[in-house]
Amino acid sequence: MACYIVVGGFFGDEGKGKIVSYLALKDRVAVAARGGCGTNAGHTVEFGGRKFKLRQIPSGFVFEGARVLIGAGVLVDPRIFFEEVNATGVERRVGVDYNCAVIEQRHIEQDRGSSYLSGKIGSTGTGCGPCNAERAMRTVKLARDVEELKPYLADVSFEVNEAIDKGENVIIEGTQGTFLSLYHGTYPYVTSKDTTASQACADVGVGPTKIDEVLVVFKAYVTRVGGGPLPGELSEEEAAKRGWLEVATVTGRKRRAAPFNFELAEKAVRLNGATQIAITKLDVVYPECRGATSFSELPRSAVEFIEQVESRLKKPVTIIGTGADAKEVIDRRRELGLV
Ligand code: IMP
Ligand code: MG
Repeated sequence: MACYIVVGGFFGDEGKGKIVSYLALKDRVAVAARGGCGTNAGHTVEFGGRKFKLRQIPSGFVFEGARVLIGAGVLVDPRIFFEEVNATGVERRVGVDYNCAVIEQRHIEQDRGSSYLSGKIGSTGTGCGPCNAERAMRTVKLARDVEELKPYLADVSFEVNEAIDKGENVIIEGTQGTFLSLYHGTYPYVTSKDTTASQACADVGVGPTKIDEVLVVFKAYVTRVGGGPLPGELSEEEAAKRGWLEVATVTGRKRRAAPFNFELAEKAVRLNGATQIAITKLDVVYPECRGATSFSELPRSAVEFIEQVESRLKKPVTIIGTGADAKEVIDRRRELGLV
């Protein structure tokens, strides 16, 4: 029984949604909580032939026994929240913290209308930056003030801590990636708050002593959307040739791409206090891996890459993504003696 925090180790879009959905199903979590910034993040979950692009609802919703909760640090856009409640069918088990700040139309207009934010930084135009700025000014409206959210309001910190104290499995999902952190990232090309595991704890109201595992998710290559440095960046043509040219979930922009970066990964392990590593999209780099569910099915080249990651980062690679569906995963936790 454990409390996991799952965060991104690069610039977002590492495939956290897929990893969290797998773990929620496998570990039959009592609570799946979302921390992180807000509707700027899009987490893709493919399950049972359906595809969800989630900007508010925790990716762990796929386990039907889970209570799904949005922590106080997360920005809520009621319009998107209701769309996703309908799409996922979680109406009877979803809760929004009383203290979530609410994104209003004017935040979206400020974000999109600012040539600094939407032009230079390349923000997602979802209003998150202006809403967090207003939160810091202490003028923002909270979820508890929004009539239509009343039926869903919850004390998320209380519920998550209670589940942990009862010995139930809990998964806390962060958003974006370590190098989009307002504190530790590539400022000013970052999002409007910290994105590390400590922030995810604070977002849902759980203290660091309650966390058992910090799982940092890396994609087998690196992508970045918007402005800012990307070491080893490939030309769009080369990225397309390798099959690494992705399109962003929220904005539809093309993502910039680069090879796996060990230096950044080492720093992410340190900043998050990682205990375990997940590698996603291994099948994109090594196509023979597609759909594999055991380590012994992997070709030598892929095994060598995983071994290199473990020796450089000095943490076990416990979860490996080999396809889009929540179940296309190699879970090494048992063979490594971790469960
Ligand atoms: P903002 O968070 O919308 O203010 O955007 C700031 C920067 O973070 C931009 O470069 C965005 O592209 C990037 N960003 C924000 N959220 C995500 C995400 O979930 N995935 C990837 N990039 C993101
Ligand atoms: Mg994304």
